[in-house]
Amino acid sequence: MASFEVLMPLPGMPEIAERLEPRVTLHKLWAATDREATLARIAPHVRAVVSTWATARVDAELMRRLPKLEIVVGFGVGYDHIDAAWAGQHGIVVTHTPGVLDEDVADIAIALTLAATRRLPQAERHLRDGRWPNGSFPLTASLHGRLMGILGLGRIGKAIARRAEAFGLRVAYHGRNKQDGVVYPYFPTLPALAEASDILVVAAPGGPATRHVVDAGVLAALGSNGVLVNIARGSLVDEPALIAALKDGAILAAGLDVYEHEPSVPAELIALDNAVLLPHVGSATGHTRAAMANLVVDNLLSWVEGKGPLTPTPETPWRR
Ligand code: 8YV
Repeated sequence: MASFEVLMPLPGMPEIAERLEPRVTLHKLWAATDREATLARIAPHVRAVVSTWATARVDAELMRRLPKLEIVVGFGVGYDHIDAAWAGQHGIVVTHTPGVLDEDVADIAIALTLAATRRLPQAERHLRDGRWPNGSFPLTASLHGRLMGILGLGRIGKAIARRAEAFGLRVAYHGRNKQDGVVYPYFPTLPALAEASDILVVAAPGGPATRHVVDAGVLAALGSNGVLVNIARGSLVDEPALIAALKDGAILAAGLDVYEHEPSVPAELIALDNAVLLPHVGSATGHTRAAMANLVVDNLLSWVEGKGPLTPTPETPWRR
């Protein structure tokens, strides 16, 4: 039987290649001296692409070059770097890794909420810089009794909401639809949710449909005591509008894990004292990244064995 040929554009967690290599022919494109020539040679035989990082775009242009492509296996719950709609229309399956990272990402959303509201990194810098003996750190806003609005009440949004309740926050949400069986109030528009919220947490998928939904108007609605937290994708937020809002006090603070052009973060944002900035670490624990790597491999091997994908994206043509 011919070997199942798999294209891996970038390296990933070592266990992905370790588990796959005994089972498939893995083409490690990043290790090729001439990527273009290698791609041209293997393209007619490639049946799967393993996309390990969001920087490895799997767009229509790449997929068109792979006539035998059956499946694209993504590392991460977000897959805005994979053109899943095009893939679906052309009978190609796309998988992602939902469910295994919700709790770690939700922890980071709460950590950013606390850090931005109570100004924890700034307070720590106050101590480390030796400024404490000359004066106490200034008073900050507080958290309890306030309302957290969640944009995108999926698995991660719900894990954030559970934590928020334990902190004494009230929770409301906005998304494409009002969800049955959810007790939190639903706001049919994002500006209305922002208006009602003290903290607005972005937890919805990235991609063209949500690009820049958090714009100057939404930030103005969040208001001068409002805190914006983003653990989803930088593309949902109009970054220049956010920088302006932080600068002129249209909102109080922001806690961000994601950016429009990662890993590049605007110098203007870095310079702002009312922004707490993390380098996309939501799922970055050993435990969770190992679970994500395993789900990537399990999806591909299940496909190779003819059992279908385990966690296909909604755009995928696969029906059990
Ligand atoms: C990863 C993520 O950092 O799951 C996601 O959508 O953003 C993170 O868990 C990312 O997928 C790595 O490319």
